[in-house]
Amino acid sequence: MTLTIPQAAAGARVLAFGDYQPATVVTNDDLAQKVDTDDAWIRSRVGIAERRIAGPGEGVVEMAVQAGGKAIAGSGLSPEDIDLVIVATCSGESPMPAHAPVVADRLGIRAPGAFDLNAACAGFCYALATASAAVRGGSARNVLVVGAEKMSQWVDWTDRSTCIIFADGAGAAVVAASDEPGIGPVVWGSAGDQHDKIIIPDRHSFIRQEGQAVFRWATGAIAPVALEACERAGISPGDLAAIVPHQANLRIVDAIARKVKAPNAVVADDIVHSGNTSAASIPLALSRMIERGDVPSGAPALLVGFGAGLAYAAQVIRIP
Ligand code: UT7
Repeated sequence: MTLTIPQAAAGARVLAFGDYQPATVVTNDDLAQKVDTDDAWIRSRVGIAERRIAGPGEGVVEMAVQAGGKAIAGSGLSPEDIDLVIVATCSGESPMPAHAPVVADRLGIRAPGAFDLNAACAGFCYALATASAAVRGGSARNVLVVGAEKMSQWVDWTDRSTCIIFADGAGAAVVAASDEPGIGPVVWGSAGDQHDKIIIPDRHSFIRQEGQAVFRWATGAIAPVALEACERAGISPGDLAAIVPHQANLRIVDAIARKVKAPNAVVADDIVHSGNTSAASIPLALSRMIERGDVPSGAPALLVGFGAGLAYAAQVIRIP
Protein backbone atom coordinates (compact mmCIF):
# COMPACT_ATOMS: atom_id res chain seq x y z
CA MET A 1 0.00 0.00 0.00
CA THR A 2 1.49 3.35 -1.01
CA LEU A 3 1.07 6.42 1.12
CA THR A 4 -0.65 9.45 -0.33
CA ILE A 5 1.49 12.58 -0.35
CA PRO A 6 0.28 16.11 -1.07
CA GLN A 7 0.82 17.59 -4.49
CA ALA A 8 3.96 19.71 -4.43
CA ALA A 9 3.91 23.43 -5.29
CA ALA A 10 6.20 24.56 -8.10
CA GLY A 11 7.88 27.13 -5.90
CA ALA A 12 7.66 29.32 -2.83
CA ARG A 13 8.18 33.04 -2.49
CA VAL A 14 8.22 35.74 0.14
CA LEU A 15 5.04 37.84 -0.03
CA ALA A 16 6.15 40.51 2.45
CA PHE A 17 8.63 41.37 5.18
CA GLY A 18 8.04 43.11 8.49
CA ASP A 19 10.33 44.43 11.20
CA TYR A 20 10.33 45.71 14.74
CA GLN A 21 12.86 47.47 16.92
CA PRO A 22 12.54 48.49 20.56
CA ALA A 23 12.29 52.22 21.27
CA THR A 24 15.39 52.55 23.47
CA VAL A 25 18.48 53.71 21.57
CA VAL A 26 21.86 53.03 23.22
CA THR A 27 24.72 54.99 21.68
CA ASN A 28 28.43 54.22 21.82
CA ASP A 29 28.86 57.18 24.17
CA ASP A 30 26.26 55.64 26.50
CA LEU A 31 28.33 52.44 26.61
CA ALA A 32 31.58 54.38 27.12
CA GLN A 33 30.12 55.53 30.43
CA LYS A 34 29.83 51.91 31.60
CA VAL A 35 32.88 50.14 30.11
CA ASP A 36 36.34 51.14 28.89
CA THR A 37 35.54 51.84 25.24
CA ASP A 38 34.90 54.76 22.92
CA ASP A 39 32.85 55.71 19.89
CA ALA A 40 35.86 55.76 17.52
CA TRP A 41 36.94 52.19 18.46
CA ILE A 42 33.45 50.75 18.05
CA ARG A 43 32.81 52.50 14.74
CA SER A 44 36.16 51.56 13.24
CA ARG A 45 36.30 47.91 14.47
CA VAL A 46 32.63 46.93 14.26
CA GLY A 47 30.81 49.71 12.37
CA ILE A 48 28.11 50.25 14.98
CA ALA A 49 27.00 53.80 15.89
CA GLU A 50 23.99 52.87 18.01
CA ARG A 51 21.77 49.91 18.80
CA ARG A 52 18.24 49.23 20.13
CA ILE A 53 17.71 47.49 23.46
CA ALA A 54 14.38 46.02 24.60
CA GLY A 55 12.66 47.18 27.76
CA PRO A 56 12.09 44.91 30.76
CA GLY A 57 8.61 43.75 29.68
CA GLU A 58 9.58 43.36 26.06
CA GLY A 59 10.67 39.83 25.21
CA VAL A 60 11.28 37.71 22.13
CA VAL A 61 7.54 36.98 21.84
CA GLU A 62 6.49 40.65 21.96
CA MET A 63 9.03 41.67 19.31
CA ALA A 64 8.18 38.68 17.12
CA VAL A 65 4.48 39.55 17.31
CA GLN A 66 5.14 43.12 16.15
CA ALA A 67 7.32 42.10 13.20
CA GLY A 68 5.10 39.13 12.31
CA GLY A 69 1.93 41.25 12.42
CA LYS A 70 3.51 43.75 10.06
CA ALA A 71 4.60 41.03 7.62
CA ILE A 72 1.12 39.47 7.59
CA ALA A 73 -0.50 42.88 7.04
CA GLY A 74 1.86 43.54 4.10
CA SER A 75 1.26 40.12 2.58
CA GLY A 76 -2.43 40.68 1.93
CA LEU A 77 -3.21 37.45 3.81
CA SER A 78 -5.04 37.25 7.09
CA PRO A 79 -3.89 35.34 10.19
CA GLU A 80 -6.31 32.48 9.40
CA ASP A 81 -4.40 31.82 6.17
CA ILE A 82 -1.17 30.99 8.03
CA ASP A 83 -0.73 27.30 8.88
CA LEU A 84 2.90 27.16 10.00
CA VAL A 85 4.89 29.51 12.25
CA ILE A 86 8.65 29.23 12.68
CA VAL A 87 10.52 31.49 15.11
CA ALA A 88 14.30 31.55 14.70
CA THR A 89 15.87 32.61 17.98
CA CYS A 90 18.75 31.78 20.32
CA SER A 91 18.07 34.31 23.06
CA GLY A 92 14.67 33.48 24.53
CA GLU A 93 13.71 33.94 28.13
CA SER A 94 13.00 30.26 28.74
CA PRO A 95 13.50 26.97 26.89
CA MET A 96 9.83 26.00 26.81
CA PRO A 97 7.25 26.37 25.58
CA ALA A 98 8.64 27.38 22.22
CA HIS A 99 7.99 31.00 21.30
CA ALA A 100 6.27 30.15 18.01
CA PRO A 101 2.91 28.86 19.37
CA VAL A 102 2.66 31.84 21.71
CA VAL A 103 3.45 34.27 18.87
CA ALA A 104 0.84 32.54 16.71
CA ASP A 105 -1.79 32.80 19.44
CA ARG A 106 -1.13 36.52 19.98
CA LEU A 107 -1.46 37.11 16.24
CA GLY A 108 -4.75 35.24 16.01
CA ILE A 109 -3.27 32.41 13.95
CA ARG A 110 -5.39 29.38 14.80
CA ALA A 111 -3.81 25.94 15.41
CA PRO A 112 -0.78 26.26 13.11
CA GLY A 113 2.24 24.01 13.15
CA ALA A 114 4.56 26.03 15.35
CA PHE A 115 8.15 25.57 16.45
CA ASP A 116 11.35 27.44 17.26
CA LEU A 117 14.54 26.92 15.32
CA ASN A 118 17.99 27.62 16.73
CA ALA A 119 20.77 28.09 14.21
CA ALA A 120 21.95 31.21 16.07
CA CYS A 121 22.78 34.09 13.69
CA ALA A 122 22.10 31.87 10.66
CA GLY A 123 18.62 31.07 12.01
CA PHE A 124 16.55 33.18 9.63
CA CYS A 125 18.11 31.61 6.51
CA TYR A 126 17.58 28.13 7.99
CA ALA A 127 13.96 28.97 8.84
CA LEU A 128 13.29 30.45 5.41
CA ALA A 129 14.66 27.32 3.75
CA THR A 130 12.51 25.14 6.01
CA ALA A 131 9.41 27.22 5.22
CA SER A 132 10.11 27.06 1.50
CA ALA A 133 10.53 23.27 1.66
CA ALA A 134 7.28 22.91 3.65
CA VAL A 135 5.34 24.94 1.09
CA ARG A 136 6.90 23.22 -1.92
CA GLY A 137 6.34 19.81 -0.35
CA GLY A 138 2.70 20.57 0.38
CA SER A 139 2.86 20.34 4.19
CA ALA A 140 2.06 24.06 4.63
CA ARG A 141 0.24 26.64 2.51
CA ASN A 142 1.44 29.90 4.07
CA VAL A 143 4.25 30.21 6.59
CA LEU A 144 5.16 33.00 8.98
CA VAL A 145 8.93 33.02 9.49
CA VAL A 146 10.30 35.25 12.24
CA GLY A 147 13.82 36.02 13.44
CA ALA A 148 13.53 37.56 16.91
CA GLU A 149 16.23 38.14 19.51
CA LYS A 150 16.66 39.68 22.91
CA MET A 151 20.44 39.33 23.00
CA SER A 152 20.67 42.00 25.70
CA GLN A 153 19.53 39.52 28.35
CA TRP A 154 22.44 37.19 27.58
CA VAL A 155 25.11 39.90 27.50
CA ASP A 156 27.48 40.77 30.34
CA TRP A 157 27.15 44.55 30.41
CA THR A 158 30.59 44.85 32.02
CA ASP A 159 32.30 42.93 29.15
CA ARG A 160 33.36 45.49 26.55
CA SER A 161 34.18 42.82 23.98
CA THR A 162 30.52 41.75 23.66
CA CYS A 163 28.24 44.43 25.11
CA ILE A 164 29.10 46.85 22.32
CA ILE A 165 28.04 44.36 19.64
CA PHE A 166 24.75 42.63 20.44
CA ALA A 167 21.27 44.15 20.32
CA ASP A 168 17.55 43.37 20.18
CA GLY A 169 14.90 43.32 17.45
CA ALA A 170 12.82 41.20 15.11
CA GLY A 171 12.21 40.68 11.41
CA ALA A 172 9.62 38.50 9.71
CA ALA A 173 8.53 37.17 6.33
CA VAL A 174 5.40 35.52 5.00
CA VAL A 175 6.14 32.63 2.63
CA ALA A 176 3.55 31.27 0.20
CA ALA A 177 3.36 28.95 -2.81
CA SER A 178 4.04 30.41 -6.22
CA ASP A 179 4.28 29.16 -9.80
CA GLU A 180 7.51 31.09 -10.25
CA PRO A 181 10.13 30.12 -7.60
CA GLY A 182 11.04 33.12 -5.43
CA ILE A 183 13.26 31.37 -2.87
CA GLY A 184 16.33 29.68 -4.32
CA PRO A 185 18.06 26.53 -3.05
CA VAL A 186 19.69 26.91 0.34
CA VAL A 187 23.39 26.21 0.82
CA TRP A 188 23.88 25.39 4.46
CA GLY A 189 26.39 23.78 6.75
CA SER A 190 28.19 24.02 10.05
CA ALA A 191 31.59 23.59 11.70
CA GLY A 192 30.71 21.92 14.99
CA ASP A 193 34.37 21.37 15.78
CA GLN A 194 34.44 25.13 16.44
CA HIS A 195 31.25 25.23 18.51
CA ASP A 196 33.07 26.84 21.44
CA LYS A 197 34.01 29.97 19.44
CA ILE A 198 30.68 31.67 20.21
CA ILE A 199 28.91 30.25 23.21
CA ILE A 200 26.57 30.75 26.14
CA PRO A 201 27.85 27.73 28.10
CA ASP A 202 24.93 27.40 30.54
CA ARG A 203 21.88 29.19 31.88
CA HIS A 204 23.92 31.13 34.45
CA SER A 205 26.45 32.46 31.91
CA PHE A 206 26.66 35.24 29.38
CA ILE A 207 27.61 35.17 25.71
CA ARG A 208 31.29 35.02 24.94
CA GLN A 209 33.12 34.73 21.68
CA GLU A 210 36.62 34.42 20.31
CA GLY A 211 36.20 37.49 18.17
CA GLN A 212 39.31 37.22 16.02
CA ALA A 213 38.82 33.51 15.25
CA VAL A 214 35.19 34.09 14.25
CA PHE A 215 36.21 37.13 12.21
CA ARG A 216 38.78 35.10 10.26
CA TRP A 217 36.27 32.30 9.65
CA ALA A 218 33.48 34.67 8.57
CA THR A 219 35.69 36.66 6.19
CA GLY A 220 37.17 33.47 4.67
CA ALA A 221 34.55 30.70 4.62
CA ILE A 222 31.30 32.57 3.99
CA ALA A 223 31.78 34.25 0.59
CA PRO A 224 32.17 30.86 -1.18
CA VAL A 225 28.89 29.74 0.42
CA ALA A 226 27.22 32.93 -0.86
CA LEU A 227 28.61 32.39 -4.36
CA GLU A 228 27.42 28.78 -4.36
CA ALA A 229 23.90 29.96 -3.43
CA CYS A 230 23.95 32.27 -6.47
CA GLU A 231 25.18 29.49 -8.72
CA ARG A 232 22.57 27.02 -7.47
CA ALA A 233 19.83 29.62 -8.04
CA GLY A 234 21.12 30.27 -11.57
CA ILE A 235 21.81 33.92 -10.76
CA SER A 236 25.04 35.67 -11.65
CA PRO A 237 26.35 38.08 -8.96
CA GLY A 238 26.01 40.87 -11.53
CA ASP A 239 22.22 40.36 -11.47
CA LEU A 240 21.91 40.83 -7.70
CA ALA A 241 20.05 43.95 -6.56
CA ALA A 242 20.93 43.40 -2.90
CA ILE A 243 23.32 41.51 -0.66
CA VAL A 244 22.05 41.06 2.88
CA PRO A 245 24.69 39.38 5.04
CA HIS A 246 24.11 38.78 8.73
CA GLN A 247 24.93 42.09 10.40
CA ALA A 248 27.79 40.83 12.59
CA ASN A 249 30.41 43.44 11.84
CA LEU A 250 30.51 46.01 9.02
CA ARG A 251 34.03 44.87 8.13
CA ILE A 252 32.75 41.30 7.68
CA VAL A 253 29.79 42.55 5.61
CA ASP A 254 32.17 44.53 3.36
CA ALA A 255 34.59 41.60 3.02
CA ILE A 256 31.81 39.23 1.93
CA ALA A 257 30.36 41.80 -0.50
CA ARG A 258 33.82 42.46 -2.02
CA LYS A 259 34.33 38.76 -2.67
CA VAL A 260 30.85 38.22 -4.13
CA LYS A 261 31.58 41.04 -6.63
CA ALA A 262 28.07 42.29 -7.37
CA PRO A 263 28.48 45.77 -8.88
CA ASN A 264 24.73 46.50 -9.04
CA ALA A 265 23.86 45.33 -5.53
CA VAL A 266 22.98 47.50 -2.55
CA VAL A 267 24.79 46.02 0.45
CA ALA A 268 22.88 46.00 3.75
CA ASP A 269 24.57 48.08 6.45
CA ASP A 270 21.80 48.08 9.03
CA ILE A 271 24.34 47.20 11.74
CA VAL A 272 25.28 50.89 11.91
CA HIS A 273 22.02 51.79 13.64
CA SER A 274 20.76 48.39 14.81
CA GLY A 275 23.81 46.50 16.11
CA ASN A 276 24.09 42.73 15.80
CA THR A 277 20.63 41.25 16.34
CA SER A 278 21.60 37.65 15.49
CA ALA A 279 18.76 35.78 13.74
CA ALA A 280 16.77 39.02 13.38
CA SER A 281 19.44 40.94 11.52
CA ILE A 282 18.79 39.73 7.95
CA PRO A 283 14.98 40.19 7.81
CA LEU A 284 15.26 43.40 9.83
CA ALA A 285 17.80 44.87 7.41
CA LEU A 286 15.94 43.75 4.27
CA SER A 287 12.55 44.89 5.55
CA ARG A 288 13.96 48.36 6.16
CA MET A 289 15.67 48.43 2.74
CA ILE A 290 12.36 47.58 1.08
CA GLU A 291 10.51 50.17 3.17
CA ARG A 292 13.00 52.88 2.16
CA GLY A 293 12.68 51.90 -1.51
CA ASP A 294 16.39 50.97 -1.73
CA VAL A 295 15.68 47.75 -3.65
CA PRO A 296 13.26 47.03 -6.51
CA SER A 297 10.44 44.54 -6.14
CA GLY A 298 11.05 41.29 -8.04
CA ALA A 299 14.83 41.68 -8.18
CA PRO A 300 17.15 38.99 -6.71
CA ALA A 301 18.67 39.46 -3.27
CA LEU A 302 21.34 37.28 -1.68
CA LEU A 303 20.86 36.42 2.00
CA VAL A 304 23.83 35.04 3.97
CA GLY A 305 23.66 34.02 7.64
CA PHE A 306 26.55 32.81 9.82
CA GLY A 307 27.37 32.57 13.50
CA ALA A 308 27.45 30.25 16.51
CA GLY A 309 27.65 26.60 15.69
CA LEU A 310 29.50 27.59 13.59
CA ALA A 311 26.38 27.37 11.41
CA TYR A 312 25.88 29.13 8.10
CA ALA A 313 23.27 29.31 5.33
CA ALA A 314 22.69 31.32 2.17
CA GLN A 315 19.99 31.58 -0.48
CA VAL A 316 18.87 33.95 -3.23
CA ILE A 317 15.32 35.26 -3.02
CA ARG A 318 13.15 37.53 -5.14
CA ILE A 319 12.42 40.77 -3.31
CA PRO A 320 8.64 40.95 -2.68
O1 UT7 B 1 27.16 37.39 15.13
C1 UT7 B 1 27.89 36.24 15.40
C2 UT7 B 1 29.14 36.20 14.63
N1 UT7 B 1 30.13 37.03 15.28
C3 UT7 B 1 31.03 37.65 14.59
O2 UT7 B 1 31.05 37.56 13.38
C4 UT7 B 1 32.09 38.43 15.35
C5 UT7 B 1 33.41 38.42 14.61
N2 UT7 B 1 34.43 39.19 15.31
C6 UT7 B 1 34.43 40.54 15.34
O3 UT7 B 1 33.53 41.18 14.83
C7 UT7 B 1 35.61 41.24 15.96
O4 UT7 B 1 36.62 40.29 16.26
C8 UT7 B 1 35.24 42.01 17.28
C9 UT7 B 1 34.40 43.20 16.93
C10 UT7 B 1 34.53 41.08 18.24
C11 UT7 B 1 36.54 42.53 17.94
O5 UT7 B 1 37.28 43.32 17.02
P1 UT7 B 1 38.83 43.02 16.79
O6 UT7 B 1 39.30 44.01 15.83
O7 UT7 B 1 38.99 41.56 16.42
O8 UT7 B 1 39.44 43.31 18.22
P2 UT7 B 1 40.29 42.35 19.16
O9 UT7 B 1 39.41 41.38 19.86
O10 UT7 B 1 41.48 41.82 18.41
O11 UT7 B 1 40.86 43.37 20.23
C12 UT7 B 1 41.82 44.38 19.87
C13 UT7 B 1 42.07 45.24 21.08
C14 UT7 B 1 42.38 44.44 22.36
O12 UT7 B 1 43.32 45.17 23.12
P3 UT7 B 1 44.88 44.78 23.08
O13 UT7 B 1 44.95 43.37 23.59
O14 UT7 B 1 45.29 44.92 21.66
O15 UT7 B 1 45.49 45.79 23.99
C15 UT7 B 1 41.05 44.43 23.09
O16 UT7 B 1 41.20 44.30 24.47
O17 UT7 B 1 40.91 46.01 21.37
C16 UT7 B 1 40.53 45.80 22.74
N3 UT7 B 1 39.08 45.91 22.83
C17 UT7 B 1 38.44 47.08 22.93
N4 UT7 B 1 38.91 48.35 23.00
C18 UT7 B 1 37.99 49.33 23.09
C19 UT7 B 1 38.14 44.91 22.78
N5 UT7 B 1 36.93 45.43 22.89
C20 UT7 B 1 37.08 46.77 22.98
C21 UT7 B 1 36.18 47.85 23.10
N6 UT7 B 1 36.67 49.10 23.14
N7 UT7 B 1 34.84 47.66 23.13
